[in-house]
Amino acid sequence: MKITEQIKAPIVVEMAVFEKKFYQSMTSQVALLNRITHYVVNRKGKQMRPMFVFLTAKMLDAAVNERTYRGAAVIELIHTATLVHDDVVDDSNQRRGFFSINALWKNKIAVLVGDYLLSKGLLLSIDNGDFDLLKIISVAVREMSEGELLQIEKARRLDITEDIYYDIIRKKTATLIAACCALGARSVLENDDAQVENMRLFGELIGMAFQIKDDLFDYTDDAIGKPTGIDIKEQKMTLPLIYALNHSDKSQKRWLINSVKNHNKDKKRVKEVIAFVKQQNGLKYAEEKMIEFQQQALQLLEVYPQSEFKDALVLMVNYVIERKK
Ligand code: IPE
Ligand code: IPE
Ligand code: MG
Ligand code: MG
Repeated sequence: MKITEQIKAPIVVEMAVFEKKFYQSMTSQVALLNRITHYVVNRKGKQMRPMFVFLTAKMLDAAVNERTYRGAAVIELIHTATLVHDDVVDDSNQRRGFFSINALWKNKIAVLVGDYLLSKGLLLSIDNGDFDLLKIISVAVREMSEGELLQIEKARRLDITEDIYYDIIRKKTATLIAACCALGARSVLENDDAQVENMRLFGELIGMAFQIKDDLFDYTDDAIGKPTGIDIKEQKMTLPLIYALNHSDKSQKRWLINSVKNHNKDKKRVKEVIAFVKQQNGLKYAEEKMIEFQQQALQLLEVYPQSEFKDALVLMVNYVIERKK
């Protein structure tokens, strides 16, 4: 069995119900919107966020409820909205192995579709009175915007440090995975703040590893279904580059910064930068850090008794850093 199938085995029913709800929650009276949302759901991603929601809920309580389902749908809607927006921001024309929304329908439409998906997500919570879950989700939505903007600020000034990098990825990515686990816990244990917090922190730590992995993908030429080398092109300095920069002499530093600042659209130069980062062990360092976060996440699961759900969650934690896309 493939590892993803193994992870999904104890939540097969939940994932099937989820997919239906997710699709239904997007429908609109506007034909153009329906056409685009149809395009979106037909090119589905790994659906790791709903998997985190269900596995967390079931590890803590063995049964999920309507709130858990709605929460999972809301989070995947918000995730989808941020990807649609992110491809506009990053000027990326490929997503999940196909053209991105902005590539097919232009930026204007992608911005509006992203807003639509976001509002549909929030309304799904509001209409059902899931205010405790909405609070968890809204914090994540705010932090994701802050993270993307902080990233833009740093890309403009090229003055990022390792600590600021962690702050950016915690906000733009880890916060939503933290929300998945907090929400999964809250949906079944309404009054147990300590458990919710433990699972939130677990999600945050594995979310950090998740984004470091994504940033590593950008340095490889694997078929991951989205462009590679695009981070440097967009002047995003991620952990491998930050490490290389911190371990270079003065003239190498000058060359690196100059490359990112003035030659970021030059494909040959970007390749040279990637080769340099590799040679300086930037990828190796980022991998080490990724594993540190992953191990910290794993430790937080130790307090829970063995169950098929916990086993699947542990597999998921490993999949985050071993995945091929
Ligand atoms: C991509 O997330 C965006 C990041 C936070 C790196 P995923 O890798 O989970 O995207 P899909 O949903 O599987 O396409
Ligand atoms: C993920 O960052 C940011 C989001 C929260 C959407 P990236 O810009 O690296 O994500 P990909 O690589 O485009 O999926
Ligand atoms: Mg992007
Ligand atoms: Mg990326």
